[in-house]
Amino acid sequence: MCGIIGCAGRDGDTLDVLVEGLSKLEYRGYDSAGVALSGADLDVCKCAGKIADLRSAVENRDLAGSVGIGHTRWSTHGPPTDENAHPHLDCTGDVAVVHNGIIENYQSLRDELATAGHRFKSDTDTEVVPHLIEDALADGADPESAVREAVGRLDGSYAVAVVVAGVDTVFAARNDSPLVLGLGEDAYYLASDVPAFRDHTDRVVYIDDGEFARIDGDGWTVSDESGAVVEKPVDTVEWDPEETGKSGYDHFMLKEIHEQPRALRQCLQGRVDELGGQVDIGDLGTLNPVAVQFVACGTSYHAALYGAEMFREVGIPAQAFLASEYATSPPPIGDAFVVGVTQSGETADTLSALREAGRRGARTLAVTNVVGSTAARECDHVLYIRAGPEIGVAASKTFASQQAALNLLSLATTNVTDGREIIAALRDLPGDIQEILDDSRAREIAKRYRDADAYFFIGRGYNYPVALEGALKMKEITYEHAEGFAAGELKHGPLALVTENTPVFAVVTGDDERATKTVGNVKEVEARDAPVVAVTDGESDVERYADHVLEIPAQHPRTTAVTANVQLQLVAYHTAALLGRSIDKPRHLAKSVTVE
Ligand code: F6R
Repeated sequence: MCGIIGCAGRDGDTLDVLVEGLSKLEYRGYDSAGVALSGADLDVCKCAGKIADLRSAVENRDLAGSVGIGHTRWSTHGPPTDENAHPHLDCTGDVAVVHNGIIENYQSLRDELATAGHRFKSDTDTEVVPHLIEDALADGADPESAVREAVGRLDGSYAVAVVVAGVDTVFAARNDSPLVLGLGEDAYYLASDVPAFRDHTDRVVYIDDGEFARIDGDGWTVSDESGAVVEKPVDTVEWDPEETGKSGYDHFMLKEIHEQPRALRQCLQGRVDELGGQVDIGDLGTLNPVAVQFVACGTSYHAALYGAEMFREVGIPAQAFLASEYATSPPPIGDAFVVGVTQSGETADTLSALREAGRRGARTLAVTNVVGSTAARECDHVLYIRAGPEIGVAASKTFASQQAALNLLSLATTNVTDGREIIAALRDLPGDIQEILDDSRAREIAKRYRDADAYFFIGRGYNYPVALEGALKMKEITYEHAEGFAAGELKHGPLALVTENTPVFAVVTGDDERATKTVGNVKEVEARDAPVVAVTDGESDVERYADHVLEIPAQHPRTTAVTANVQLQLVAYHTAALLGRSIDKPRHLAKSVTVE
């Protein structure tokens, strides 16, 4: 999704700070980029393509200014072209605007402005904003009032940042799209996400919906819609800027897969007492849910399916919903507690679903990685997964941490009979994952099947979401066809797709009825000549029917669903690497999906 950076008060290196900041937002996904600097005049440089293209473009220009804004665009209105890249200008060229989100009433505003004589150069919804500001300035408004007036006319979601020629201030406003200020010693920043300025400061202020912000060389202010100053808390970001580097790995995703032992230790630290069999997640432990509805998207939805299974297992009605469906077709909520699982805490579909649940009177909980994110701030409760920053677009360590955090939630709020055993298994997880990372045969499997026609994944119970996640990872980073199925569903249709060139990854753990039945499904596949890769702890006899085995340590079924997924992450990663795909920034995808 689009990324915004703005800065004020830098000593002659505004351009560098903006371009470097944009490079830190690349992980969000984008297809064009640009900057605007304001000094005596306004200078703009923007282009379709990558930050490297923007770097080349700015090299040939003499861009200067004491304040500036920058943007990475992920196309919604109009293709990725130089003209559609942000910043957008008004007719005079004195007002530059960058925007994240979608302005729903842009067409009527554009018609009105065009009729009044404004000239538009792009297909974007954003371009109405500088023209609205231009009109307000022409009517005598000061720059801040002009921005307020323009923003007051917008319907939809936005984070906007604005600079005006000859004014050494960056103005910003937020509605439904993230915006955070960074407070340096003598310089101030704003961005859609902290990594954009984390090299310069760890002190941050999160802007809320309906608020306006301004930064200049002397400081910062946040105000509400009426213009009254809002006292905002200043938070400190705990993670190190080094965490957002690749640390010698070829890709962020590989680094993040390898960071899973550490991420899980962080998630569990201070929250589990193995000896006493206790879990401590603060007030959340007193929630006592009678029913649970999970809402989430993509990988987080798979974690939600896994979470719902844990509650059902102890007799509490629980269901996972795709947030985009829930938001527009909500089920009856009754007394259900509604849990939004969202790594970023900014996914528009998940936020809509949580808001809908809140409007219907449900108590809500955000299970998220990002401190201060919208979900964290809007929900009644929050449980942080503490995975540390995840830069690769494809979620990896955050999925494992979501699984661990949901275990903590179920252990703290329900009467699980084998609680001690689960806690012990959770404690072992970092070591179990390390064992897999040190000794996985995933690359060999990836090499063997890199030219397959399609990849299928099957699993039951806790392993069903693992099958879905294995397939999602495979498709999003290899661009190859991959599908995950509940193992028992294969024979109800998908079996028609199975051939000798479609490997089937079967996740089979334990030796209970679920494992026995899944082994039966593996035999059905084998009888149709498809190669079978079993991801297994060796407790069942699946190895007899499999062509290859990816081993995981035998443990509780809840945690083998975490380790099995690590093997599948590695298969997807190595397949994508062998195929030469853009692993950290897969085509068409964005890290934080802030539009519905
Ligand atoms: C896939 C992936 C996405 C996200 C989804 C929800 O690897 O990362 O499917 O899981 O967009 O994002 P969050 O968790 O930020 O709500």
